[in-house]
Amino acid sequence: MKEENSITGTISFIETPSDIAQLMVDLVSLNFKKKKDAVILDSGCGKGIFLKELQKKNFTKVEGIELNQALYKICKGEFPNLKIYNNNYLTWDTKKRYDIIIGNPPYAHYNALPSEVKEQVFEIVKNKESDIYYAFMLKSIDLLREGGELIYIVPYSFFYNTFAKTVREKIISNGYLDLVIDLDEIRLFKGENPETIILKFVKKKPKEEEKTAILRIKNKNVSTEIILRDAIESINKEESNDTFQYHKKAVFSSSDEIWTTYPLIEIPSYNYLKDLAWIGVGLVTGYEKGFILAEKEIRKLNVNEKKAVIKLIKATHCKGFWIEGETSYFLIEDKFQDEEEIKKLFPNLYEKILPYKQEMIERYLPNNKKWFHWQALRNIKKHTNYSSSPKIYVPNLDRSKVNRFSLSEESIFPSGDVLTIVPQKADPYFLLGYLNSNFFREYYLSAGARRGHRITFTQRILANIKIPRFEKEVVQKIASITKKIFLEKQKDQLSKIDEVIQQAFQNGNFE
Ligand SMILES: C[S@@+](CC[C@H](N)C(=O)[O-])C[C@H]1O[C@@H](n2cnc3c(N)ncnc32)[C@H](O)[C@@H]1O
Repeated sequence: MKEENSITGTISFIETPSDIAQLMVDLVSLNFKKKKDAVILDSGCGKGIFLKELQKKNFTKVEGIELNQALYKICKGEFPNLKIYNNNYLTWDTKKRYDIIIGNPPYAHYNALPSEVKEQVFEIVKNKESDIYYAFMLKSIDLLREGGELIYIVPYSFFYNTFAKTVREKIISNGYLDLVIDLDEIRLFKGENPETIILKFVKKKPKEEEKTAILRIKNKNVSTEIILRDAIESINKEESNDTFQYHKKAVFSSSDEIWTTYPLIEIPSYNYLKDLAWIGVGLVTGYEKGFILAEKEIRKLNVNEKKAVIKLIKATHCKGFWIEGETSYFLIEDKFQDEEEIKKLFPNLYEKILPYKQEMIERYLPNNKKWFHWQALRNIKKHTNYSSSPKIYVPNLDRSKVNRFSLSEESIFPSGDVLTIVPQKADPYFLLGYLNSNFFREYYLSAGARRGHRITFTQRILANIKIPRFEKEVVQKIASITKKIFLEKQKDQLSKIDEVIQQAFQNGNFE
């Protein structure tokens, strides 16, 4: 979140709603709840919403630290009995250790931070792709006593971001997440609304059978009052309700993996997709306007130029099961390096791109490329070799409610916004149907693919997904339903694919 208030010099003062602060104070575990003299710190206490809730619950040893002087003064005035420090948490040198650290730390990407704060964050996180909240988490874990608890509301991104590995590592090497409340992109704060979670970390080696309780918000149109009520009910009863889906999963134990709040789906017998199919990213122009051709432009081209026209599948053409439409581009291969030659061989195309020359020069281009080239012809040889094979395309980032894996056997190329899957050791129709099933969607989300309201299909995640090794009969059934959907362009049979999958799981129809 960016600076967005009149109190200058403050990084991210954004007030937490009081119901959320109350919920977080309610998460203080029983052993500390009974000890009203537990030593508690609010890191970045702002105007003191957490301090207020902690006082209401009669905790006596509550402290706060706040960098911004105006906010510090507000807290000092409002809570004269509490110890409030006007200090920088990131550089704060203290011997003190805490039973509980609670709060809503600032969120801001490294690049958006003032330079001295960048240095302070780098000192702690050791990486320039981080966020200030990573530094707050790492520092807090250090300042906890053994057995102490960190109760924070933070973005969900450290669950999956490659550069948050340090944070995941710190968590698993010092303790475990006892509870995660996944609030998704619910609007809690003024301004930007990242996907947020409330977490409770316990600084203690987890028992072997230790589990993390997970609450995932189902109904996003609820008030903070309902969130408070239903989260507490769900935690106490250990069950789902109208607002939250509740489950427990084994504590996260690897910092290399993407963490997710989805239940783990076990597949008893499987192949990795990368062993059944080739998966590759598509071609990137780096400047779409310069290379896309309209029908009437194509008609005017000479024979040579017509050979340079290629058809691309873009995300918008992926309708789920089938493809609709295509976009024509021209491609001047990298072997042509001389602008004069281009002018001669491709006069109409040259005339088309010339007005954009400056913009095309300014886009990022690898060293061996000229301004009239595409930015990255990723996997072009493979795509050419597979041009007459059945190929399944999927948008890299998708907002739709159902998956849009789409099959084509035409000689087309993938654009940079889709991923191509070329089935090699699997029936293309089976794969297409399975990948479009709701079962697979849930499974794929459980592999860490959620990005806000969207779902990301990356080469890395897809390569390592497990495709069930169903018995032949199951594979054939799914393939034949899928073929019908594909040919008739009618998706009302999609639920049948899910029925077949569910039955196969129930009856254990695996090879
Ligand atoms: C998201 S606000 C939360 C404020 C308050 N805890 C609440 O929930 O309403 C983050 C707070 O951290 C403070 N802050 C930012 N950087 C800080 C730092 N390095 N040390 C201490 N406080 C900091 C900001 O001034 C702001 O008040």
